[in-house]
Amino acid sequence: MKKITIAIDGFSSTGKSTLAKQIAKELGYIYVDTGAMYRAVTYFAMRHNFVSENHLDSEGLIKELPNITLQFHFNEEAEFAEMYLNEENIEIAIRTIEVSRLVSKVAEISEVRAKLVEQQQAMGKNKGIVMDGRDIGTVVFPDAELKLFMTASTETKAQRRFDELVEKGQHVTFEEVLQNVQERDYIDTHRDDSPLVKADDAIEIDNSHMTKKEQFELVMEMVSEKLEVR
Ligand code: DC
Repeated sequence: MKKITIAIDGFSSTGKSTLAKQIAKELGYIYVDTGAMYRAVTYFAMRHNFVSENHLDSEGLIKELPNITLQFHFNEEAEFAEMYLNEENIEIAIRTIEVSRLVSKVAEISEVRAKLVEQQQAMGKNKGIVMDGRDIGTVVFPDAELKLFMTASTETKAQRRFDELVEKGQHVTFEEVLQNVQERDYIDTHRDDSPLVKADDAIEIDNSHMTKKEQFELVMEMVSEKLEVR
């Protein structure tokens, strides 16, 4: 059976990972959450005092990059690949608002991006992969057979992220989350290296008023078309 590469890019909290996971499960493909990799490097940088609210030591972090090993290990029970940093499971630690506040700063560093992009390309070399992020259709897999670009209204995005964090037991206010979502989207779209932009051949999906099921069915139709083309 023909295998394709599916690239899903878009703004923060537009449901990229939910959709990517559904598609990967349906097709039996690998799912890679590249945001988790940027979060993992950020978590490492926070621990080693390379980044905080008001400082960034890019040079210090760049020197340490060879000592950072990132791996995904599939958790059968959760049906989800969890993020490991140097053999340590950091899946929960990387989802906090503190990491969310600093991750866009770290993701601006070209050397960090180059290291992660190389690893992402290696993971997708045999196709049969669904990858989500900000630069997948533009930089990581410019030849992906199907590229999606996800958007939603700011309020919708913030509400989704807020609900997610509250469900995980984190103490945050809606305003805090709204501000973080806006700030990250601004930095992600305005950075010099690999900014978040829609690839020319990506299909834009605004899911502000779509259910997860409607969105999944729409995308699976697109996937079927791609799989039928020889
Ligand atoms: O998908 P996410 O919200 O977990 O991503 C966290 C941050 O990582 C996001 O604000 C920008 C950065 N990122 C990136 O620059 N490139 C990617 N391919 C994925 C994420």
